[in-house]
Amino acid sequence: MNPRNVGEIPNADGVGTVGHPACGDIVRIYLKINRQNNTPTIVAAKFKTFGCTTAIATSSIATEMIHGKSLAEALQIKNEDVAQALGGLPPIKMHCSVLAEDAVKAAVADYMKKHGLQKDTDKIMHQSHIHEDRELFSRKEGEAS
Ligand code: FES
Repeated sequence: MNPRNVGEIPNADGVGTVGHPACGDIVRIYLKINRQNNTPTIVAAKFKTFGCTTAIATSSIATEMIHGKSLAEALQIKNEDVAQALGGLPPIKMHCSVLAEDAVKAAVADYMKKHGLQKDTDKIMHQSHIHEDRELFSRKEGEAS
């Protein structure tokens, strides 16, 4: 496996962290967003994960899929699209793709929150399957270092 876009974006415009309660895996996605026109566009996306290899693969492909997309387009990407882009996943691994979808949503929501779009943020987070898990990520990061 050769995942792309692994790492962090310093001073990212949006950061989303989600965890799955059953397996304990966590994904964090960082976005750089170009605001120079009326349609904010994702110009860079990176990820970090404390998760299984499928979580790494789905996060990697999700960051590829949202690159160059508007926020609205990025929010349209579903976990099934992510799984399909990898050639399909066994049912037991589908939740790993949900984690990638939700991390994208959480990162977009973070950007919107920072730009006073709280109403949209609440809607996005309501649509996602998993709630944000920044604290757990920090704890795991502490354990890993
Ligand atoms: S086993 Fe939980 S994200 Fe893959």
